[in-house]
Amino acid sequence: MPSQLLGSCSRQLIEKLNEGESKGIHLAQHSLFIIRHQGRVYAYLNQCPHLGIELEWMPDQFLDHARQFIHCSTHGALFLIRTGECIAGPCQGQFLRPLTMQENGDDVDFLLSS
Ligand code: FES
Repeated sequence: MPSQLLGSCSRQLIEKLNEGESKGIHLAQHSLFIIRHQGRVYAYLNQCPHLGIELEWMPDQFLDHARQFIHCSTHGALFLIRTGECIAGPCQGQFLRPLTMQENGDDVDFLLSS
């Protein structure tokens, strides 16, 4: 499956992310976020599947209070961290778009599958 390179960030930025934290990353034309959850880092486009708007209301705050779900601050929708599936809210059954991360020297590339 062909992938589109959206851009890169420093590997350090990802390594600094602690368990249960999320962080927004703004590339030239794309907004995305990363989450460290149960030892693994997940990356998604910062775009709700139903309205296409960004999910956070405060910088780097993409999770609900218990840090168990990704959270849309506008509608309260909840998404599974592992898959990006919306399990409650107006876009239930739809998915956030996951990004693949690939190490590239001191950087990490973000790739979107088409
Ligand atoms: S924009 Fe889609 S759930 Fe909020």
